[in-house]
Amino acid sequence: MSAPPVPRSPRILRRAVLGAACALAGGWAGAARPAVLLRFSHVVAPDTPKGQMALRFQSLVHARAGGRIRVEVHPASQLWGDDDEMEALRLGAVEMLAPSLSKFGMAGVPEFEVFDLPYLFADLAQVRRVTQGEVGRGLLQRLGRQQMLGLGFLDNGFKQMSAARPLRTPTDYRGLRVRVQASRVLGEQVRALGAQPVVLPFGETQRALASGVVDAAENPLSNFLTQGLAALQPHLTLTQHGYLGYAVVSHPRFWASLPSADRELLSEALAEALAHGNRLAAELDAQALATLRRTPGLQVHGLTPAERSALRRHLQTVYDGFQRSLGSALLKDVQQALDQR
Ligand code: LMR
Repeated sequence: MSAPPVPRSPRILRRAVLGAACALAGGWAGAARPAVLLRFSHVVAPDTPKGQMALRFQSLVHARAGGRIRVEVHPASQLWGDDDEMEALRLGAVEMLAPSLSKFGMAGVPEFEVFDLPYLFADLAQVRRVTQGEVGRGLLQRLGRQQMLGLGFLDNGFKQMSAARPLRTPTDYRGLRVRVQASRVLGEQVRALGAQPVVLPFGETQRALASGVVDAAENPLSNFLTQGLAALQPHLTLTQHGYLGYAVVSHPRFWASLPSADRELLSEALAEALAHGNRLAAELDAQALATLRRTPGLQVHGLTPAERSALRRHLQTVYDGFQRSLGSALLKDVQQALDQR
């Protein structure tokens, strides 16, 4: 196996050295050193679809590789956060990530922002028709342009809006500073509602809401719950306005350095872990909703069909912007996949 490249960025270098020291202290010091170390870094809590998928992947690999491959799962931005995880992957300071689809646009693959278009999908079955079909395969391939190897898709769920007031109609959003992920489409969506988008890494969102740097946020329920946002945002409005999912990526150089039997083992374990995570996504979403409805101090608001349609109509301008910058071919392909039965 070739030696990992030396990280160039001072911050990444510092943290890579720290990470290696921690691995030695808490990991395989004294034990036989594994032939392959695969660090899987992500930004959310373990008790989410992504957190559970990563842990399932780890346990499947450990059960099948007999100690030769060690998977370390680093949740909650403990190893890398949104700002540096993709650079860390390119520099060999982490081997696997699962960023949300929204985050690949700024990483040089803007086509992924199609998933951010408001009210594009009616349900997870529709999402799967896109991610598990030709469009999804094409998108994963495009990651190669940015030295990423796309290995598969994972759902979280649909996003809901939260703030210090209910957000039922477009006018309710006026003047709010809304935390968004680094996606042009999400920025446009918030501006279309008369609010100000503030791009922040996931790991800084809770603090930004607590200190009043931002007033509102959009999250799937498992993230809203596990980040403790109910204590900061007393009104949760079930807007269901957008989808949040992930692509699992590795680095082509790391992947190519593995013996083919290990690649096969990892691919199979990942496919099973993704299937597990995808099954769990809807379940964790429903559990989170039940918990949040019982949470003292939090009010959960549903939208009437008329309110949802009004919001949807208002957000149509976001589609025009997307088509102006990326053309209409991708959206047509997506639409075709959605219409398939
Ligand atoms: C976010 O930044 O809100 C999400 O992408 C976090 C995640 O990974 O679910």
